[in-house]
Parts: sequence; structure tokens; C-alpha cells
Amino acid sequence: MTVTKPLLRTLAGEAVWPPPIWLMRQAGRYLPEYRAVRAGVTDFIALCTSPDKAAEVTLQPIRRYGFDAAILFSDILILPWALGHGLAFKEGEGPVLPPLRDQAGLDALDPDRLAAAVAPIMETVRRVRAGLAGEGFKQTALIGFAGAPFTVACYMVEGGGSRDFAATRALAYANPALFDALMDRLTEATITYLSMQAEAGAEVLMLFDSWAGVLSPGGFARHVTAPTRRIVAALRARFPHVPIIGFPRLAGMLLGGYASATGVNGVGMDTATDPALARAQIPAGVALQGNLDPMALVAGGSAMTAEARSILSAVKGHPAIFDLGHGIVPQTPPDHVGALVDLIRRA
Ligand code: CP3
Repeated sequence: MTVTKPLLRTLAGEAVWPPPIWLMRQAGRYLPEYRAVRAGVTDFIALCTSPDKAAEVTLQPIRRYGFDAAILFSDILILPWALGHGLAFKEGEGPVLPPLRDQAGLDALDPDRLAAAVAPIMETVRRVRAGLAGEGFKQTALIGFAGAPFTVACYMVEGGGSRDFAATRALAYANPALFDALMDRLTEATITYLSMQAEAGAEVLMLFDSWAGVLSPGGFARHVTAPTRRIVAALRARFPHVPIIGFPRLAGMLLGGYASATGVNGVGMDTATDPALARAQIPAGVALQGNLDPMALVAGGSAMTAEARSILSAVKGHPAIFDLGHGIVPQTPPDHVGALVDLIRRA
């Protein structure tokens, strides 16, 4: 069968115009229909592991806006949770995990739990694929995802969110044997988890490395580029037709090297990246994804239009996917998202 979905054509290296569009964290609290489903569950993990509800919230933004991609509704921290590491989402506080800083913490991770723990998420993937086809969204591709090992390790070592992940960076220098062993376990588990998603029907796989930019160049090579390359190689061998997008947030000048060395089919640009400079630095066949400032989407109007047009003109002629430079925020007016989609579709 020939590839017709715009997102898949773009990730195969074609400069599709207008570019396909989806938005990072497009399912979420800015949508009243999401808040309604969210109000009916005790906690966020229960939502991620209820296939009917998770599939419903994955499809909500597609029904409203007709995006070119649906992204599986789950979270990057489901992987450590599935390995038996504690995880809670506290209201207004974000994720809380037990800090992993010694061998005992590492030994407690159990890869044998993974497949059974994520089985409900694979059911979500199957239901979303069936839902997209059944509701007539023939052009919308399904993205599966995981956190990249370094970003997942950041939350596990730190025990939650942080401005700079100082404890994680210090541990990586002070106890490389322990940190590398953790990274190795996460890399293997990520390959298994993403393979399961591809088998269940994910058409694209994305790796979120949200904290890649806190590392030194040496640390970036070792903890971002190397494991990503290993994950891409393993997935490509098993699923040669499933493209992979990497998002090494705040990689700055290291973005081009990351794109060449890892073998990804697309790279996500964060808000601070100049799309014209990124374009000059990445291989011709690698798609660029991004990178409207989520706050421009909050503001809307002429400021948003100007920013979006400047991204469009920088990427025109190169394979490109229109997206935000980071996740959509809860205060985003849903009308502004509709206006952005109209603008891109008329480009
Ligand atoms: O539409 C989608 O993209 C939904 C799937 C999705 C979620 N999280 C749902 C979610 C995806 C792809 C993610 C990725 C994710 N999660 C990242 C990488 C992208 C990025 O933002 O850098 C990271 C670092 C996380 C970890 C995480 N999850 C944090 C820090 C938080 C708390 C902050 C917040 O936004 O609430 C979460 C919770 C979370 N993940 C929510 C959603 C919709 C909010 C929880 C709720 O509704 O109560």
C-alpha cells in the first residue's frame, strides 16, 4: 500500500505542503471535554491505564481540529512505573517518585513486570487506530511515544521535576557505573515498550528527551545521542517502516549532530531553535518538527500569526511538521488552536 498520510510522507522525506500539523500535549486540560473525562477518574495513572478513557481523550483533539497526528494518551513516566518504580501525580505539584540514587534502587527495577503493566496501554493503541479509521480520520497517523532514557532517568534520580536536574547530573559524574547501568536498563526497556506500541498499531514513534539540554557536550553524546542511536537501530531492524522522531529539547548547537548520528527520521525543535539554522545543519532527508512558542498560542491574534508564518517560511521546501516548541499549556484558548490550524492549512 502506498503511503498517503501527510505525516508519514513527510517523515519519508517528502516536503509536503502545507505541512502536516499536530501539537505537543494536544490532549489535555485546555479542552473542556478532557476535563470532563479527567473528573471521572481518581488519578492520572488510572486515566492512562483505562483503554476506553485514554482512547477517548486521544481522539478528542482530532475530532475538534482534524490534526494530522493523534498521539497516544499516556505519559513518559509510565515506563518507570511499569518497571515497579513508585509514581504519583500530585495536584499542582507534578510527578513525585522515590529518588533512585543507589544500587538497591536499581536492583528494585523489574523488567519482567513491563509487558503486563503496559498491556492496557497497548489496548489503547489498538482502540485509537480502530477509532481513527471508524470515525473517518483517514489522513491522521497515530504517534506512539516514550521518554528518552536520559529524561526518564532525570525524574527517577531527582524524585520528580526540577529546574536543572542537579542531582542527576552530579550522580552521572560521581557514580558512572550506577548511572550507566540505570541508562542501560532504561534503554532496553524503552526498546521493548516502543516495539510493543509498533506491534499494537503505532505508525510513528517519538522519543521525548525534554531535559537533554541540561548536559555538557560530553554528557549529551553519552546520555542522549548514544542511547537514542541504540534505540533507533533496534527499532529500525524490527520495524523498518515505522519512522522515529527525536526531541532533544534545548540541544542548541548539538541538534544537527544529534540528527545525523542517531538516524532519526525527524527532529523536534524547541521554542528557542532557529528553524533556518536547524535546517542548514540537519541531513536533507530528516524532517523538522516545531516550533511555535506555546505562549504565542495562548496570546493568539497577530503575534501568533507572525510567529507561525516565520516558521513556515523557514521550513518551506524541506520536509516539515508544524508543531509547538514545547507542550500546550492549560490556559490555551481552544479557539486559538482552531485559528492556528486554519492558518497552516491555508499556507
Ligand atoms: O496529548 C498528549 O501529548 C498526551 C500525552 C502526553 C502526556 N505527557 C500527558 C500528560 C505526553 C506525550 C506527555 C509527555 C511528557 N510527560 C513529557 C515530555 C514532554 C514535555 O512536556 O517535555 C514530560 C516531561 C512528562 C512528565 C510529566 N507528566 C509532567 C512533568 C507532568 C506534570 C505537569 C503537567 O503538565 O501537568 C505530567 C502530567 C501529565 N501528562 C498531564 C497530561 C495530560 C497532566 C495531568 C492531569 O491531567 O492531571
